Amino acid sequence: MCGIVGYLGNKEKKEIILNGLKELEYRGYDSAGMAILCNDELKFYKKAGKLQNLSDFMNDLSFKELGVAIGHTRWATHGKPDDINSHPHYGEFSCVIHNGIIENYKELKEELKNVNFNSQTDTEVIVHLFEEYTKKFDVYTAFSEVVKKLQGAYAILLITKKAKNTIFFAKNNAPLIIAKGDNDKEFYLASCDAPLVGISKEVAYLNDGDYGYISEDKITLLNGKIEFKQLSSDRQSAQKDGFSTFMEKEIYEQAQIVKNVILGRIKNDKICFDELSSLENNFSKIIICACGTSYHAALASAYLFEREAKIEVRIEIASEFRYKDAYLDKNALFICISQSGETADTLEALKIAKENNLKTLALCNVDNSSIARLADYCVLIRAGIEKSVASTKAFCAQMVNLWLLSLYFNKNEKRALKDEIFVLKNLDLSVNKTQHEKIKRLSKRYLHGHGFFFISRDIFYPLALEASLKLKEISYLHAEGYAAGEMKHGPIALADSELFCVAFMPKNMLYEKTKSNVLELSARDANILVISPIEFDMADDFIKTKDCNHYMIEFFEMMVIMQLFALEIANKVGANVDMPRNLAKSVTVE
Ligand code: F6R
Repeated sequence: MCGIVGYLGNKEKKEIILNGLKELEYRGYDSAGMAILCNDELKFYKKAGKLQNLSDFMNDLSFKELGVAIGHTRWATHGKPDDINSHPHYGEFSCVIHNGIIENYKELKEELKNVNFNSQTDTEVIVHLFEEYTKKFDVYTAFSEVVKKLQGAYAILLITKKAKNTIFFAKNNAPLIIAKGDNDKEFYLASCDAPLVGISKEVAYLNDGDYGYISEDKITLLNGKIEFKQLSSDRQSAQKDGFSTFMEKEIYEQAQIVKNVILGRIKNDKICFDELSSLENNFSKIIICACGTSYHAALASAYLFEREAKIEVRIEIASEFRYKDAYLDKNALFICISQSGETADTLEALKIAKENNLKTLALCNVDNSSIARLADYCVLIRAGIEKSVASTKAFCAQMVNLWLLSLYFNKNEKRALKDEIFVLKNLDLSVNKTQHEKIKRLSKRYLHGHGFFFISRDIFYPLALEASLKLKEISYLHAEGYAAGEMKHGPIALADSELFCVAFMPKNMLYEKTKSNVLELSARDANILVISPIEFDMADDFIKTKDCNHYMIEFFEMMVIMQLFALEIANKVGANVDMPRNLAKSVTVE
């Protein structure tokens, strides 16, 4: 989500860091900052907003002597996107930058009772803890001791006046790369390949749990081991981490995003949303408003809120809601869901809810967005910047957050919360490469015909709607999503040998009922693709999913499959996957 760059050497440091951050800016642009240590002087600069603000702020400065520099672009998770919360965070003689979330930062702050914290971030605790430990240990041991205390996800760079020409680093569940420079005494660090392309040929991708330091001519691992590889030389593909499109990259990122979303949300078998602590759980119902993919997440969440939390839910398309003069129960909680936080219709709907004095909660991916600012409460979904116009990882993050919220709002003591938490913690969305290859092969059979029906039941019905939206927006093929039980009420009239029917048939949700509906379509000669853990003889094509005992595991696995299916068909028809015609990423007009 955030971006990290580091440099050790005697070239001009400000430009190296700014150029590196430029490559990363698309990941986070709430603020940017850098710290430079040369000639025993440690200086830091940070500015809210785009990187250009930092660049302008540092306009006349230059740092050519041998030394170290670290830089950061921020995607806010803890604390407002202002100058103070920008990285680097500093103590008396050290500075730190960090990507990820330190889950136990509140506990660690307890150890630092005499320290004045400047920011609201989780990161700042790292630098104070380090300085505190240097009172007892040498700097290397102090850094090791800090890392051992950290829980959560992190890629960390730390520099200190107590160790000249040295950058300390640590990695866990957030990417970090070390790159060799032009000579033995020059090193770069970055959170992805992009800033390193063209300036380094050899890179080492650190593993989770690795930490150590780089000093003038060597890298010392205090934990783990390091292996250098050749770096690809294509900048575009480096930004895409080697994937051919941002959409594919974002589908593959979802496994990590689930981990980011649940970080800090589950403590002692309880669901935690600190940002909602003052929101009383006494609302009469929930009204959810959104557009497009976010609307599908809303529809899906209704099944969770009603089933898990036993709360009545009403779902509204924002563009409809804003003009319908809706009856609003004053005791309802109004939730709006928006990846960008700027969608005009959703923003207007939120304003209407506020005018009617409803409590409002936004689920957004962009912290300083209009919707995030306007709502009384905001939960950031933590998907990181989504570059592909077709939303994938934001939908995934919305769904995990909504599932967590449905458990958080649950007032029913008898629920099996422990079981749900176990499933959430073990949710694995890693793409099965063999399955992806199969989908690639299958996709070429789906390029003709007069259209697609995606069908299923329960929470898999909104998934079918989302599948049809994904396919139509990037491949321009006609697709519809239907509740499987609705087929017989009209749509089945379209069934013939030129219709493709994709059926989600989870084992743990109304399998037999959906099966009957699929058989009705098969009897009318439609081409059937079944996605299920249970073999199905009557299907023309079959994608087998994992056998498991929870329908939400099936939901997320089928979500990945339908995204890949849309992607591969779009690739086959030669469409511009990341920038489909007629669409925009942020829809700020009515
Ligand atoms: C589809 C897609 C759109 C958005 C919709 C709402 O892939 O991305 O349907 O979901 O425009 O956007 P947000 O969530 O930013 O309000």
